[in-house]
Amino acid sequence: MTRHLISIDDLDDEALHWIVARGVQHAAGPVDGTGLDGAVVGVYFRRTSTRTRTAFSAGTLRLGGRLVTYGPGDLQTNTGETTEDTGRVLSLMLDVLVARTADDPAEMRAWAGQRRMAVINAMSADEHPTQALADLSTLQRRFGAVDGLRLLYVGEGNNTASALALALSRYPGVTLDLRTPPGYGLTPQVHERLRRAGTAAGTVIRERHDMDDLPTGVDVVYTTRWETTGTVKPDPDWRTVYAPFQVSARLWDDNPKAVFLHDLPAHRGDEVTAEVLDGPHSLAFDQAAMKMYSAMAVLEWCRGAGR
Ligand code: CP
Repeated sequence: MTRHLISIDDLDDEALHWIVARGVQHAAGPVDGTGLDGAVVGVYFRRTSTRTRTAFSAGTLRLGGRLVTYGPGDLQTNTGETTEDTGRVLSLMLDVLVARTADDPAEMRAWAGQRRMAVINAMSADEHPTQALADLSTLQRRFGAVDGLRLLYVGEGNNTASALALALSRYPGVTLDLRTPPGYGLTPQVHERLRRAGTAAGTVIRERHDMDDLPTGVDVVYTTRWETTGTVKPDPDWRTVYAPFQVSARLWDDNPKAVFLHDLPAHRGDEVTAEVLDGPHSLAFDQAAMKMYSAMAVLEWCRGAGR
């Protein structure tokens, strides 16, 4: 069986919960199960990556799969071969394609127009679904369950924030407060997807563009880098707009038990102070470690394991 994972929307609740729980299982130690049984996994990254590329590569090898890797200049798409032809040919040789484009996900959807090769989105412009799955496994491992958690996300409403909101919307009793700079929030399309799909019972996802009246007593404070994969912003004054949204130790005055999450890479002094990122509340590097265990769960699911 071949399954694609291009968006959190590609997972029903059962699949989402299975992958999250399976990631926790992998982190606890070797897991009996399907593995990849020699499957050939293509890893194609057009943008920089330290964690996601390594997580899927190391995860493939740990599960008994084999790797073919491509850098940004390697495929004939650079010389004009069509997206459709590229996907068709790769699907004749690979079992799984893990791709980071940071572009429109339509390209990945075109590659996924067949059922031989699973396509996994390792980050597109709109969504970073495998990051959200790793984040939820990190939370489930820490708190025992994602249900009922209260989260405060501070910073850019980027592809990581979008996937996080879409994934958390499937767990009951969750509150996610997003505080994003004006003009840099979740896209209207993501809000529309959340509205159309609805949320699990008792779950609230809301966004504001200021740092007034912040929630208190939250379980989790989360931020991400202000310049995702080095993307340049058109507004030369964007730093002035972002400055109030830096995560500093002051947030722990009213949230003393909160853990801190960051998808990394981080810029200490921009989106977060060094005191927080390297401090006692930070799970950022546990979260990075969880990316490989979560990638293993995603690879297994795409090859037919779980629900
Ligand atoms: N968080 C994340 O996606 O890290 P990389 O860009 O290093 O893969």
